Amino acid sequence: MTASHAASDASGADLALSSVTKRFGSFTAVDDLDLLVGRGQFFALLGPSGCGKTTTLRMVAGLEEPTAGRIDLAGKDITRLKPYKRPVNTVFQNYALFPHLNIFENVAFGLRRRGVKDVKGQVQDMLDLVELSSYGGRRPGQLSGGQQQRVALARALINRPQVLLLDEPLGALDLKLRRQMQIELKRIQTEVGITFIHVTHDQEEAMTMADTIAVMNEGVIEQMGGPTELYDNPATTFVSNFLGQSNLVAGEVLGQSGHELVVAVEGSKLGVPMDRARSTSGAVWVGVRPEKVFLAASGTETEDNDNVLRGAVVTDVSFIGVSTQYLVRMPWSQELTVFEQNTGARESFRPGDAVDLHWMAAHTFVLDAAQDAHAGDETYDADLAPAGAGT
Ligand SMILES: Nc1ncnc2c1ncn2[C@@H]1O[C@H](COP(=O)(O)OP(=O)(O)O)[C@@H](O)[C@H]1O
Ligand SMILES: [Mg+2]
Repeated sequence: MTASHAASDASGADLALSSVTKRFGSFTAVDDLDLLVGRGQFFALLGPSGCGKTTTLRMVAGLEEPTAGRIDLAGKDITRLKPYKRPVNTVFQNYALFPHLNIFENVAFGLRRRGVKDVKGQVQDMLDLVELSSYGGRRPGQLSGGQQQRVALARALINRPQVLLLDEPLGALDLKLRRQMQIELKRIQTEVGITFIHVTHDQEEAMTMADTIAVMNEGVIEQMGGPTELYDNPATTFVSNFLGQSNLVAGEVLGQSGHELVVAVEGSKLGVPMDRARSTSGAVWVGVRPEKVFLAASGTETEDNDNVLRGAVVTDVSFIGVSTQYLVRMPWSQELTVFEQNTGARESFRPGDAVDLHWMAAHTFVLDAAQDAHAGDETYDADLAPAGAGT
């Protein structure tokens, strides 16, 4: 995708990064990045630690100068504009509140600095927005982590920035609080209508909050789109593993039949919708999400247009309450993962059971085999993989 400068005004795009590169010495932290963020969007920049997310945000904020490329905000080139001249504010993970000022004064800070005399109404509105109406007189130290983060948000939003940058803002909170704050942040963003660019390494967080996610890896954007689009139709092995989990099996394209690509996998023929095939010839990875796959006792009849892989053995059963997570060993000794809802419709399989796997062809995707099948899989450890496992 190429960002054009014209797109950053009339078309409603708020922020445009065009061929932005940042090098630290000989190390390239951000590599020729193109990014368009629409006005009023909740945009997530998602990627593992060290992939260049913070560096990207810092360039948007003006805290870091790009080595090459340009940044436009509402059609205006801001690449070399001083940070304080940009209509941009940042919320960090560590809140960075002023400990000696009370909550009211922390929130009022930006207005006071601009010489605004009557701050009371605006500060109170902001405290209402973040649901801390009666906390104005307290010190930051007297608030919980989640409350402090809401103060940090109010302190940034009171400046009415055109773009709010959030760098792992929920990273310091425990899981339950983080879930609450995710909903809270989304509500606030909808209410104020300001463009949010949210940086996170947490895929669930990005998926629950953002309209658009850009998945970043080693300084480049691997794929950009809505959460369901990225999840259902990943373009790379990295995206398929980093966003949720995927089963990837090695296959060889046989040809095309109607709207489907036909791929041979260890003696079985699998169908893949053409619009989910990122590679249409030669060696490929055939992918399917664990919750899309059904287990059946070995030899059971399956639907005509289902993809089927037979001859598996259950090797592990993890009961998680709402679901059961199965590991099954395929005849070619690769282990695949299957998630099953615990509807109680039938008994669970046990380790050692012989099973077949089947799923709708429509739920299959195909990726270029030139990529590492384990890219983006943070749980994979090559040293622990079973010997002889295909991937
Ligand atoms: N000032 C700097 N000098 C040298 N290397 C840096 C500097 N800032 C960041 N880096 C490197 O750039 C890469 C990307 O960093 P960063 O943008 O902070 O990643 P993320 O926020 O995705 O974790 C990392 O390898 C980091 O060590
Ligand atoms: Mg960072």
